[in-house]
Parts: sequence; structure tokens; C-alpha cells
Amino acid sequence: MVERLNEVLETAQLLVVMGKGGVGKSTVTAALGRLLASTGHRVLLVEIDPRENLHQLLDVEPSDGAVVRAGPNLELQHLHPRRVLDDLVAERLKFGPLARRVLASPVYQHFAEGAPGLKEAAVLGRILRLLEGHGPKGQEVPDVVILDGPASGHGVPLLAAPQLISSVIDSGPIGQMAQDIECFVKDAHRSAFVLVSLAEEMPIQETFELIDLMEYQLSREPACLVVNGLYPPVEKGIPYPSGDSPEGRADSLWRARSQINQEQLERLALRWRGPLLKTPLVAVDRGPVLIELISQTIETQLETH
Ligand SMILES: Nc1ncnc2c1ncn2[C@@H]1O[C@H](COP(=O)(O)OP(=O)(O)O)[C@@H](O)[C@H]1O
Ligand SMILES: [Mg+2]
Repeated sequence: MVERLNEVLETAQLLVVMGKGGVGKSTVTAALGRLLASTGHRVLLVEIDPRENLHQLLDVEPSDGAVVRAGPNLELQHLHPRRVLDDLVAERLKFGPLARRVLASPVYQHFAEGAPGLKEAAVLGRILRLLEGHGPKGQEVPDVVILDGPASGHGVPLLAAPQLISSVIDSGPIGQMAQDIECFVKDAHRSAFVLVSLAEEMPIQETFELIDLMEYQLSREPACLVVNGLYPPVEKGIPYPSGDSPEGRADSLWRARSQINQEQLERLALRWRGPLLKTPLVAVDRGPVLIELISQTIETQLETH
């Protein structure tokens, strides 16, 4: 299974990293980026969370829409989905007075904000065009784009939106683009999904729901699950420090969290038999050291399977 994951990571042009907010999506995005960049892939990380933070993890300046170099073979870009959609509409209307009128009209404003997944689909459209060599002038074509996806719930509408749009608008440039994106996200040779979770009850529950939704709406499975933030397993035979000392309280917390992690991993194993990567909770603040450590753990697991 992990052998197949190696193949997916080697060849996919788009990796979408999804999961509930706070589980480590951006951390995993950055770590996978580092790893693929170190093996010679030209990687572009794309972030759409309005609270831009990938740059902090990689210790570079914020992007605010620009492409920022974050290391050899590694670049990152923050995109505002609404701005991407507006640009797309303006471009289709040849940037003329009509474009300005449409963009300012209440009907468009309402449509752009209200249609589920529309803005995010525009981001996918932009990524697809970049990969096909039709990106903005001067922007290098990456081998792979890793999209730090929206929190789950928004994730599947994002992926289902192209299908919805192409079923409503079946002709013209927007209809064509929606069809192209739909083919792209359904094509297991070109795109892959990485689901990140914590080994805790609610995130695991959400992961199951996300797997079901992907199956239902896209007929696809994730390429792998990453269970992040695992507490180090409790080693047998280590004496307990006294319960009412600070060490004792930290020790009890560790044992309790570790126990929950083990139970949830067992629950996950009953349902998911595909590729699984486990990444530990490390005592390091957000930043390049954390990313390097997580990237190394992933690399080791990919090698030893
Ligand atoms: N394995 C880990 N070990 C230690 N800290 C982690 C780990 N994974 C994530 N973090 C920290 O947890 C916080 C949330 O991670 P982040 O990747 O930003 O989550 P998300 O993108 O899912 O909201 C960050 O401050 C990050 O530094
Ligand atoms: Mg994030």
C-alpha cells in the first residue's frame, strides 16, 4: 500500500491536504513539500486559509498573493479565492467596462459568495492552468502543487463544485473550465488527497465522514491518511512520578493522551486499511525545525515499508 503511496507522491501533479482545522494540515503540507522538493520535484505550496501561516512554518516572508521562494525547489503562494474568481471573470470578459460592471453588480457579488465551493473551484482552475503551462507570465511551472485545503466540510464542496458548475453551465469557457477541473480531480493519475487527523475521537469521526463524502461525490479514496500529533507511547516499566507533583501531573496527562491515541488508532484500523502515516507530537515550536522533523518521519515511513 505504501509502495503505491510512493508512486502517487512521485507522479501526482496536485496533492490536496484536507482535515479539520488545527490538526496539522499546514504542517503536513509544508513537510510533504520539503520532502518532495528534496527529491528533486519543483513544488509549489498553495494556501487559501485567510489566516496565512505557511510562511511562518517555513520561516519566509508572507506571500499575500506573490510566489515566495522557501528553499531549493520549493515555493509558496497564498491566494484569496474570491480574488482568484474575480480575476477569472475579468479575464473572460477581456478586462473591459463590462468586466467592471459585472464584478460590481450585486447579482455577481451574491453569486460569488453564495455558491458553495465556487471560489475554491476557481483556485483549482488557476492551479490547473498553471500546471498546463498557462499560468501568469514569468511563473515557473511546478511539477507538483500541494494545496493546503480548507477545513473539512469545505473540502468536499470544493472538489464537488466543478461537477456542479459543469452540470449547470455546460458550454462556453466557464463550462469548459469546470469540466476540465472535474476530470482533473477525478483522475487518480493526476490528483491525490491526503487526509490529516489527530488520533482523537472527533477528528477521527470527521475523517470517516470525509472518506464517505469523497467516495459519494467523487468516487475516490484518499491516497493516504496522516495521523498527526501522536503522543509518544508509554513505555512499560518506567516508574510513575508522584501524582501531585508537576512531573506527576504531566506524566498522567501523557499516559491518558497516549491511551486515547492508541484506542483511536485501533478504531481507525477497523475502517481504513489504506496507506497510513503516523507523525509524532514533537516539543518544538512552529517553524522550520518542526517541518524538518515531520518531513523526516514521513520519509522514514515511506522508505521502510
Ligand atoms: N506534530 C506536531 N508536533 C508539534 N506541534 C505540532 C505538530 N503538528 C502541528 N503542530 C502545531 O499545531 C499547530 C496547528 O498546526 P497547523 O499545521 O497550523 O494546523 P492546521 O493547518 O490544521 O490548522 C501549529 O502551531 C503547529 O506548530
Ligand atoms: Mg492551516
